[in-house]
Amino acid sequence: MIERTLVLVKPDGVQRSLVGKVVTRFEDAGLKMVGMKMVWMDREFAMKHYDEGILVPILGEKSMKDFEELGIKTDKEKHVLGKEVYEDLIRFSTEGPVVAMVIEGVHAVQVVRKIVGPTSPHRAQPGTIRGDFSPISMGYATKRGFGGRNLVHASGDLKDAQKEVPLWFKPEELHSYKTVHEAHTL
Ligand code: CDP
Ligand code: MG
Repeated sequence: MIERTLVLVKPDGVQRSLVGKVVTRFEDAGLKMVGMKMVWMDREFAMKHYDEGILVPILGEKSMKDFEELGIKTDKEKHVLGKEVYEDLIRFSTEGPVVAMVIEGVHAVQVVRKIVGPTSPHRAQPGTIRGDFSPISMGYATKRGFGGRNLVHASGDLKDAQKEVPLWFKPEELHSYKTVHEAHTL
């Protein structure tokens, strides 16, 4: 049940100087940082992180739903829309450096997603990172074609986490140590 998960403060979060506030959310929840670095992704690496084959259909589906909900009309096919959103995502993910970290803790994957909030910030509750700091909706971003600047990436599930952590960090970049919280949870 002790899991490791990948978090990125995306270029918008770094440019808005929100790295410290984001890290504090995880530290305050008693989660443990076991690796951290700043990386400027190129297109090739961004496409390894965001798998085109998996993501384009998901983004098409999500964008269609957002458009319906927001009353935005489109005659584009789902796949075409998904590909456009994917390209916006790759462009914005590579426009500046990100801060990458691996966070460890009990049910860390799920707990980190809860702290981050849902994908579209307009649906994210106050108290979540996206709800507190990001003033957009994915539908709006897609319509304007500028990529969903929602501050943070967090692995979606354990399978994704197990793929993403080794993609970003070598074993020697991840550290084992004890936090004071562990005295209360062991
Ligand atoms: O990041 P998360 O796991 O919550 O969402 P995702 O469905 O895996 O999508 C990856 C990223 O694509 C999001 O975090 C957004 O930055 C971007 N996206 C977007 O720009 N427009 C959408 N309609 C949906 C996602
Ligand atoms: Mg995801």
